[in-house]
Amino acid sequence: MRLHKLLYLEKKHIQISILIIFFTLQLVKSGTVPEESRYEDCKPRNCGSGPDISYPFYVQGAGGDFCGEPAFEIVCMDNKPMHWTSSGPYIIKNISYENQSILLVAAELVNAPCFAPSQRFAFAHNSPFKFTSKHADLLFSYGCNKSFAVFGFETSLVSCASNSSYKSFVALLPKAVKINDGCISDVFVPVDLEGDRSNQTIKNVDYVQLLKNGFTLEWHGRGCGNFCTESGGRCRQENGVAVCYCPDGTTHPTKCKQGNLI
Ligand SMILES: *[C@@H]1O[C@H](CO)[C@@H](O)[C@H](O)[C@H]1NC(C)=O
Ligand SMILES: *[C@@H]1O[C@H](CO)[C@@H](O)[C@H](O)[C@H]1NC(C)=O
Ligand SMILES: *[C@@H]1O[C@H](CO)[C@@H](O)[C@H](O)[C@H]1NC(C)=O
Ligand SMILES: *[C@@H]1O[C@H](CO)[C@@H](O)[C@H](O)[C@H]1NC(C)=O
Ligand SMILES: *[C@@H]1O[C@H](CO)[C@@H](O)[C@H](O)[C@H]1NC(C)=O
Repeated sequence: MRLHKLLYLEKKHIQISILIIFFTLQLVKSGTVPEESRYEDCKPRNCGSGPDISYPFYVQGAGGDFCGEPAFEIVCMDNKPMHWTSSGPYIIKNISYENQSILLVAAELVNAPCFAPSQRFAFAHNSPFKFTSKHADLLFSYGCNKSFAVFGFETSLVSCASNSSYKSFVALLPKAVKINDGCISDVFVPVDLEGDRSNQTIKNVDYVQLLKNGFTLEWHGRGCGNFCTESGGRCRQENGVAVCYCPDGTTHPTKCKQGNLI
């Protein structure tokens, strides 16, 4: 009799368990988006002009935040992709996914009547970006008095930012230096310097052209890297982890597999 009751209870227990499992499966099933559409979600986007935007970058407000990482957010403004730093917006002229680099130009310098930047560049908090080996600085010194000198560096007058009593100068600094030049304000602006750095000064470069060209920043080792894209997949974030989505609907940690190697 007792055994009978026990068996009955056990049977009931199993039935309830099966019901729970069944409903859990239903829930999971209805909450799951088909994998192919997850692949479609992260197709490369574009601001209307400029480079294609894909992992680790994503376009803010385009419904695909999970297609990139927070520090790589891009804001589209006037059809241009912008990267936000602590010192303001920079236009992304180009992205190299292969070299893991971006080419930036200060928004204030586009169509500027006078190439005299007011914004000193500063990386965003916790920025994953770094300068490259091409990095040099243009130092703009505004409102300088007669004792003006940046020790050891040639300077040129920035005439569009000067008048009879207020003089502004620019110097090319291929390496970081401390300055004490008797000016009202100083602004360091990054540029890319090609070739031999030792013999280049403000006198033999075209600084307006350097400003227009912009400067390169690089990043290192994010998520799926290039392997996913090269294998035909698209990276996206899932629970803080990069996952490679493949056209056939499968997912992999790094790249779409050909064979069973990954
Ligand atoms: C972006 O970089 C690629 C590869 O170097 C180059 O072919 C292309 O012209 C560049 N685009 C712009 C707008 O600089
Ligand atoms: C990537 O790096 C190589 C080697 O430094 C360079 O030749 C190429 O122009 C770079 N591509 C881009 C798009 O920056
Ligand atoms: C020279 O320029 C400075 C800074 O723009 C300005 O404050 C000053 O009034 C100007 N002086 C003259 C004489 O134009
Ligand atoms: C130039 O400016 C610096 C710093 O403001 C000041 O110490 C110095 O006396 C000034 N020199 C002249 C010649 O006005
Ligand atoms: C700097 O030196 C290199 C080789 O030493 C030379 O090719 C280049 O023309 C020089 N540049 C300038 C601006 O003098």
